[in-house]
Amino acid sequence: MWKFMALPHLLLLLVLHCSLFVALVSGWKTLQGSPPVVIARGGFSGIFPDSSLASYNLALKASSPNITLWCDLQLTKDGVGICFPDVKLDNATDISVVYPGKAKDYSVNMVPTRGWFSFDFNFKELQIVSLVQGVYSRTPKFDGSNYYILSVENVAKLVKSSSAGLWLNVQHDTFYKHHNLSVEKYLHSLSAEKVTISYISSPNANFLQRVRKKSSLKKTVTVFRFLDQYKIEPTSNKTYGALLKHLKFIRTFASGILVPKSYIWSVDSELYLHQHTSLVSDAHKHGLKVFVSDIVNDVPFSYNFSYDPMAEVLSFIDNGNFSVDGVLSDFPVTPSAAINCFAGIGRNAKKQVETLIITKYGASGDYPACTDLAYKKAKSDGADVIDCPVQLSKDGVPFCLSSIDLSTSTTVADTKFRNRTAIIPEIQNGSGIYTFSLTWNEIKTLTPSILKPYAKYTLFRNPKFKNQGKFVTLSDFLSLAKGSRVLISIENAAYLASKRGLSVTKSVLNALQKAGYDKQKSRKIMIQSTHSSVLKIFKDKSKYERVYKVDENIHDADDKAIKDIKTFADSVVLQKASVFTQNLAFLVNSTNTVARLQSFKLPVYVETFSNEFVSQAWDYYSDPSVEINSFVVGAKVNGIITDFPKTAVRYTKNRCLKHAKKAPYISPIPPGKLLKHIPKLDLPPPTPPLPVLNDSNVTEPPLPSVSGKFSISGAAR
Ligand SMILES: *[C@@H]1O[C@H](CO)[C@@H](O)[C@H](O)[C@H]1NC(C)=O
Ligand SMILES: *[C@@H]1O[C@H](CO)[C@@H](O)[C@H](O)[C@H]1NC(C)=O
Ligand SMILES: *[C@@H]1O[C@H](CO)[C@@H](O)[C@H](O)[C@H]1NC(C)=O
Ligand SMILES: *[C@@H]1O[C@H](CO)[C@@H](O)[C@H](O)[C@H]1NC(C)=O
Ligand SMILES: *[C@@H]1O[C@H](CO)[C@@H](O)[C@H](O)[C@H]1NC(C)=O
Ligand SMILES: *[C@@H]1O[C@H](CO)[C@@H](O)[C@H](O)[C@H]1NC(C)=O
Ligand SMILES: *[C@@H]1O[C@H](CO)[C@@H](O)[C@H](O)[C@H]1NC(C)=O
Ligand SMILES: *[C@@H]1O[C@H](CO)[C@@H](O)[C@H](O)[C@H]1NC(C)=O
Ligand SMILES: *[C@@H]1O[C@H](CO)[C@@H](O)[C@H](O)[C@H]1NC(C)=O
Ligand SMILES: *[C@@H]1O[C@H](CO)[C@@H](O)[C@H](O)[C@H]1NC(C)=O
Ligand SMILES: *[C@@H]1O[C@H](CO)[C@@H](O)[C@H](O)[C@H]1NC(C)=O
Repeated sequence: MWKFMALPHLLLLLVLHCSLFVALVSGWKTLQGSPPVVIARGGFSGIFPDSSLASYNLALKASSPNITLWCDLQLTKDGVGICFPDVKLDNATDISVVYPGKAKDYSVNMVPTRGWFSFDFNFKELQIVSLVQGVYSRTPKFDGSNYYILSVENVAKLVKSSSAGLWLNVQHDTFYKHHNLSVEKYLHSLSAEKVTISYISSPNANFLQRVRKKSSLKKTVTVFRFLDQYKIEPTSNKTYGALLKHLKFIRTFASGILVPKSYIWSVDSELYLHQHTSLVSDAHKHGLKVFVSDIVNDVPFSYNFSYDPMAEVLSFIDNGNFSVDGVLSDFPVTPSAAINCFAGIGRNAKKQVETLIITKYGASGDYPACTDLAYKKAKSDGADVIDCPVQLSKDGVPFCLSSIDLSTSTTVADTKFRNRTAIIPEIQNGSGIYTFSLTWNEIKTLTPSILKPYAKYTLFRNPKFKNQGKFVTLSDFLSLAKGSRVLISIENAAYLASKRGLSVTKSVLNALQKAGYDKQKSRKIMIQSTHSSVLKIFKDKSKYERVYKVDENIHDADDKAIKDIKTFADSVVLQKASVFTQNLAFLVNSTNTVARLQSFKLPVYVETFSNEFVSQAWDYYSDPSVEINSFVVGAKVNGIITDFPKTAVRYTKNRCLKHAKKAPYISPIPPGKLLKHIPKLDLPPPTPPLPVLNDSNVTEPPLPSVSGKFSISGAAR
């Protein structure tokens, strides 16, 4: 029942005053001004089976030393406390195979539930059960490793440093009580064994009220866990949503609250963020700490974060108005880096590394590729180099578009121009509607369409803006990009010259001249192609940096090929897989390619870095900053080519880059690290070695001259 304990007014004021003072000194807007804590849910459960030894060990190794290990407490028949995410063991263990006939029916919170429950088994019986991956979108490759169910004592022993801690979450105290098992008794026995529990959370107010009275748990922080807004809290018979108005009551038995992230930043039906609620400041006013749950890197979250989990964590700890006191995450490396490296860097902070951030079709992760919106965003995000893949219209107007095939980034296939579909094997296998089949005036009428590279995973980009923006001519682009370096990429030049009477190189040179770039001394213009014949035309070294793109995956390049590249290019673009080789999305090894090219003084830029977690190897923990860091610090590449420049630019400003000795959460990932945890039998078959780039791949005949028959007067505008 309700019992309001009036807090002495003076004391409250005093507490507030102190915390405000500390907060100002440290810069953290947490309750006491100390940095937020990172809580690893079941260890590093985004990678390894939840609550397994490997999971807890990785959390300890890869995160901040101040990590708190989260354990969902369950009890066995013989009263042993184990860490396991659910009251039923069937999800995330192989128990249905080990004890096939032993499923039972019980009522859990009044819901009839069938399954394997921990209290039907002694701890010893559970020792032959293995933990497996319970989330289907995560890799099951570690399932054969025989990770055993751990007791709370097992997990407590892993916590060696005094700044690390253990968090017990007690979700089903009443359910265990109905089965004659007492969580309180168990907690008492733990303290007798000198196991220190830093935090205890529960969604049941009465349980916490009882815990609060235990002298053995005096030093433990009690945390009231909010469930869905519409669920009923059993003690008060009120919904959790209604309890938000009774923070004063909650403060009588808890020092903190743990809330789903939507309690602070809620989203609309389209997954866009509303303005934040006042919950954190309200709770802080009542002297309650606030911990936020459901911080998971490998699920779609609000589009406002552009698939960048770092951006999401920062919205809770570094938004200028408040900071939560702790973050419960399946990927503790991300909040660790957010707190120690990324928080508190202003927009105008300086870059800590020289690595160039080069866009791929502008900020095409946020807006339709190569539109004015994508380019403006790229500029405001602070990209160093903004790119225009140049295409020609039928009447020879050069403009920016991600592909020569209009159907990849416009809705042309739904327009009257669909009858201009053509099959041109020199360009691509399937059919397409090509830029040179429509005049610029026709192209201008087309609706842009945002790229969907991960549609097969049902991951889409910024739906609100998926058809917004305008296409720009090369001249428009050059004025939009003024002040930044630009990269112009040229493909299909030979086909356009010999078959369509269009000279793309000449069009580009003319546009640059008109924009006054030919008179500039500084090399602001980069010209990129996969063809040496194109780059050879831009031989004026004082004006252009010529970038040779290798679009095949290679593991090395021979001397002759590199020397040849040096004759027509100043830098090279490689694919990610030419730097770190992969097998089934696990990193296998690093190649020599970057070091070899750099030893010939060729800077190396690498593509394509995207935020969607499915684009990254498992080893990068579904965090694009971790991937970028491995290429910048680990492989020492000179440039990052990305469709989400905001993420990459933020990375280059993080303050941990200043320190030569890298903390674990900002260390490059050694290739092969996760592969080692896969049992031999389940290893993927080795992939054949990648080819070596040789001279025959680099040399090619000069571009054919423009065939007169097709040339159109005034083509190059
Ligand atoms: C197992 O648990 C995870 C995480 O709670 C959930 O996403 C998944 O759907 C569950 N699987 C089954 C078969 O219940
Ligand atoms: C980590 O813990 C130490 C000692 O408790 C403390 O001094 C330090 O501020 C903490 N750092 C962070 C980032 O929480
Ligand atoms: C719990 O213990 C009581 C008394 O010892 C007994 O009557 C009851 O059946 C037990 N309940 C369960 C679920 O074991
Ligand atoms: C809980 O509240 C509802 C109405 O809000 C009431 O109908 C119900 O009887 C209450 N249950 C208990 C156990 O007090
Ligand atoms: C999220 O993005 C939408 C669409 O761009 C915008 O309207 C909204 O204000 C953003 N929310 C926040 C909290 O910035
Ligand atoms: C901070 O709070 C004020 C007023 O509540 C609001 O206008 C502002 O947008 C908030 N800033 C952020 C970054 O959330
Ligand atoms: C495409 O259809 C239009 C009428 O909608 C027609 O005028 C034009 O000739 C057709 N073009 C081709 C290449 O078939
Ligand atoms: C076109 O198809 C052929 C045979 O199906 C394949 O070998 C080739 O790689 C494809 N080319 C492109 C550009 O996709
Ligand atoms: C990794 O690559 C290096 C050379 O780059 C090679 O010597 C080594 O054998 C490779 N290791 C594996 C496991 O393939
Ligand atoms: C270049 O490599 C290819 C295989 O990648 C090989 O077939 C060809 O003979 C090599 N050419 C030279 C000149 O080494
Ligand atoms: C190099 O060229 C050969 C044939 O000339 C081809 O088989 C090989 O795949 C090419 N290698 C690369 C890395 O482009």
